[in-house]
Amino acid sequence: MDTQRLFINKSWTACYDQQMDRSNGYEAVSEKFLARRGRSRSTGIGVKEVPKWTRTLPRGSSVIDLGCGPSFPITAVLVEEGLHVFGVDVAPSFVAAFQGNLPGTPIVCEAVQESRFFDRTFDAALAWGLIFLLQAEDQHRLVQRFAEILVPGGRLLFTATAKPAVGIDAMTGLESLSLGAEQYRKLLGAVGISVAEEYEDEGENHYFDAFKGKIA
Ligand SMILES: C[S@@+](CC[C@H](N)C(=O)[O-])C[C@H]1O[C@@H](n2cnc3c(N)ncnc32)[C@H](O)[C@@H]1O
Repeated sequence: MDTQRLFINKSWTACYDQQMDRSNGYEAVSEKFLARRGRSRSTGIGVKEVPKWTRTLPRGSSVIDLGCGPSFPITAVLVEEGLHVFGVDVAPSFVAAFQGNLPGTPIVCEAVQESRFFDRTFDAALAWGLIFLLQAEDQHRLVQRFAEILVPGGRLLFTATAKPAVGIDAMTGLESLSLGAEQYRKLLGAVGISVAEEYEDEGENHYFDAFKGKIA
């Protein structure tokens, strides 16, 4: 039996079986995304900020990239910097592209709302361009999950906007919802995660650089 094929068929079926589009419109625009942001490992918003963060992690650290997309431009940086990377994305086209771009790097085709996150903990977690695509209650739950999957002292980097905002996602045209910096800090604090630093990139993404623990 062709086990590789069986595995791919099973994981794709799992994605398609879901009643609603869990990718928040990204599977539908995957061709456009792959031709733009997902095309190159060296260009795109975030390619300056994420490597800086990555270099503050010890080589060999385990990192989970949530909503990793096709791996270019962000996940590839993590791999190049010598981290042990795991990907999660619910859009089947991106999972297939990821497997082509980074063969051997584990990825699951799962929605973060239901993912088992490889049934393990991580030294760091990254969620670039993801959290504000989710409903408010799913964002609360994801923050809780951050705390569950990080080791003590584990690092977290995610993006949203600093101001609470209902917006329109530029790629999909669907509604997005940022809870805003104050609310994210509050939610993170409630699960034992402290924000150490915040900054913005040229695309007005606000970065929350945080860790599991208390600021001394
Ligand atoms: C703005 S893109 C960012 C992709 C990638 N992080 C990057 O930097 O290019 C959002 C990504 O989140 C994924 N996504 C959306 N909703 C998701 C969900 N509920 N669970 C897992 N992934 C999701 C999309 O498929 C897409 O790859």
